[in-house]
Amino acid sequence: LRATDPVHWIASYRSWFVVRHDDVSEALKSEDFSSDRIAPVIERLRSKDRPDISLIETLELLNGWLVFRNPPEHTRFRRLVHKAFSPRMIAAMREEVVSVAGELMDLAVARSSPDRPTDLIHEIAYPLPAIVIAGMLGVPPEDRDLFKDWSDDISALVFGALDDEGRHERARHGMSELVRYIGELLDRVRLQPGDDLATALVESRDGEDGLTNEELIAICVNLLFGGHETTTNLIANSMLGLLKNPEQKELLRTDPAIIGAAIEEFLRYDGPAKSVVRVVAADTELGGKSMKRGDRVFLMLAGANHDPEVFDRPDELDLRRKPNKHIGFGAGVHYCLGASLARLEASVVIPLMLERFPECELGSEQLEWDPVLLTRGMKHLPVF
Ligand code: HEM
Repeated sequence: LRATDPVHWIASYRSWFVVRHDDVSEALKSEDFSSDRIAPVIERLRSKDRPDISLIETLELLNGWLVFRNPPEHTRFRRLVHKAFSPRMIAAMREEVVSVAGELMDLAVARSSPDRPTDLIHEIAYPLPAIVIAGMLGVPPEDRDLFKDWSDDISALVFGALDDEGRHERARHGMSELVRYIGELLDRVRLQPGDDLATALVESRDGEDGLTNEELIAICVNLLFGGHETTTNLIANSMLGLLKNPEQKELLRTDPAIIGAAIEEFLRYDGPAKSVVRVVAADTELGGKSMKRGDRVFLMLAGANHDPEVFDRPDELDLRRKPNKHIGFGAGVHYCLGASLARLEASVVIPLMLERFPECELGSEQLEWDPVLLTRGMKHLPVF
């Protein structure tokens, strides 16, 4: 597709699919491509004969997330969030990440047995990011499981499984519970400020301006959600890449100092964000194709990250790859806000896994991938 029709219309999806690095990068940085992609879905649902009001209300909550807003609203919102969720605050999390990863690893090693594979997702890659982001927000440990369940429930909404009645019922429930819980957490923080991210967000100011209650709830839910599944998938996909490329695994195990470059290569080679969606804001052209206002566009980060025009031997995992202009965290104004947290977690836990499971091998060739276009993740990663 990249060679023959790199900006491709698929009628059954009523969407464009863009796969080349330069076209994807251009669209991510262009105002002709809007991030306000939930509003059209809401509009469509409203126009039905018997609109599902409670689904519409849930989508309206989602619509307030930073990732779905456009400048100038997005610029102000992101500036206020960035003041709280700063690289300094994330760097200060290293000790906590090391400690949580170490505890999870001890448990995984204690539970492992020669005749039963260890599921690296269930034991480590899934719980680590959930515990870290919930801890940052000041969620008490006993409430963390609730959190994980709700966040799993709303993935149906975010990843677009809107036609699946059962899943959107769960999503609706998950979203309303999460919003209620975060509202109460913020009320507590206002009365009793702490040394956590929720307090920093409540107190964030740009001159007189601060985040409204709706924005605070939206960003906390967005951070919890954004900070969870993607990082799980980065850790798991990276481990799979190493298991399938034993010489690269050995390279990293014997020279852990290359972890920084290795993480960038994992993000390129099999990154968790397969694509991001935009809506054409005004009739425009991309890669020689005319697009109409309102058209939906899938910007395929995975395609861009394997573009031979930009990467030598794009389908090889090369932990020493340099330069590496991958766009696994997106680009432009919506560039991933949690990139340094994800890098931190992966750079702590992947070397630790290699240290504690030095001889590990893939426990099954039958891996089950999530059947969605936006993310790339497995359900289990069994290793012996
Ligand atoms: C935005 C990927 C981890 C929070 C994004 C975007 C991508 C992305 C591709 C851009 C979306 C768009 O342009 O529409 C990833 C990957 C991760 C990861 C691959 C892990 C490896 C995290 C973490 C957090 C987070 C750990 C927070 C704790 C966010 C937020 C945005 C975002 C809030 C919206 C930023 C904005 O709109 O200004 N992420 N993410 N992400 N990410 Fe991440």
